[in-house]
Amino acid sequence: MYLTREEERVYDGEHGWARQVCMRILVRLGELFGATRLVPIYSAHISGVSYKTLGDAPMEFLETTLKEGGKAKVLSTLNPSSIEEDYLANKFPVEFRKKQRRILRIFREMGMDLSLTCTPHYQYFPPKGSHLAWSESSAVVYANSVLGAWTNREGGPSALAAALIGKTPNYGVHRPENRQPSVVVDVRAELRNEMEFGALGHYVGKELKDEVPLFKGLTGYSLDDLKQLGAALASSGMTSIFHVQETAGEGLERIVVERKEVEETVQELSTAQTEEPDLVFVGCPHCSLEEVRAVAHLLRGKEVRGGVELWVCTSRHIKERSGDYVAAIEAAGGRVLCDTCAIVTWTSKLGVESILTNSAKAAHYAPTMNKAGVALLPLHDCIEAACSS
Ligand code: F3S
Repeated sequence: MYLTREEERVYDGEHGWARQVCMRILVRLGELFGATRLVPIYSAHISGVSYKTLGDAPMEFLETTLKEGGKAKVLSTLNPSSIEEDYLANKFPVEFRKKQRRILRIFREMGMDLSLTCTPHYQYFPPKGSHLAWSESSAVVYANSVLGAWTNREGGPSALAAALIGKTPNYGVHRPENRQPSVVVDVRAELRNEMEFGALGHYVGKELKDEVPLFKGLTGYSLDDLKQLGAALASSGMTSIFHVQETAGEGLERIVVERKEVEETVQELSTAQTEEPDLVFVGCPHCSLEEVRAVAHLLRGKEVRGGVELWVCTSRHIKERSGDYVAAIEAAGGRVLCDTCAIVTWTSKLGVESILTNSAKAAHYAPTMNKAGVALLPLHDCIEAACSS
């Protein structure tokens, strides 16, 4: 792998331990995956921010990296943390809160933006064709497939290394030939809501693993539908990019998806033993302004019933722009939570055993990450279930 003189100096430690370790991570990855050089990135997005998923040892690594001069070289945003200060923080042990705050302090002192969201693309649009190093799989798929930016599906450490160096190795979908569709997915079912787009994504991810799907037959979808599709695709599979009907896809392998597959996937993801959820969770990935508006609209004239929590998770950026909708949701008894989500916080410590959600990605992770049963329903039905007695 070719390195410039300056990159070699960083590699040899002339610019300190932190940058040397980061450069070595990037070069090692590049060599493993056949990169020829490093390319400058427009931004980094770093996962592994939640103390629940990070644990103690990586926190020590972060502290040392900061002490040794680690500073972000490009715009760098962060994935959700495990606490939210206004409503949830005091419900958890002091030790957890202290450690989560310590992690956030380290990132802030490294110069990261404490965005704490999995939808950094609602905060800014990376330019089309720009190289990124993002490590939230749902955001990666959205960036590549909807925004036309170029990012591999980084791990937390490689996104951090890229943030501190300002570059990433040019393998994977940083190369045009790896962005091309490899399998046509012929969808012969009319998808009726965002949940079914998620179910389609989950089914295709499981079938195709890291192939690049070209979806045919999708109609009348919104950007939020594509967000659900991509998030679920990247949960059950490993792809970083999908296409929707841009090219003919002639000569490619083809799979057919009918209503049966979509419905069976919804059933498979619905593991709850009860129809009475402890928590109704909307906002995986974090809600857009339009989704917050839709929840407020559906709650009109209703009240969240006792014994049920309704969480609408979004970014601070979106919450600040949703004043009237947030007021309407909270007046009805729901909570609009920023900086976290039901999956990366400790719902089991709040007594949550069953979660109702409209997100196939959340339904995929909740049984293992939250030890909770899940029911998967479209947004309209989630709000009905949160409110009806
Ligand atoms: Fe975001 Fe949490 Fe889902 S980080 S993508 S809301 S699991």
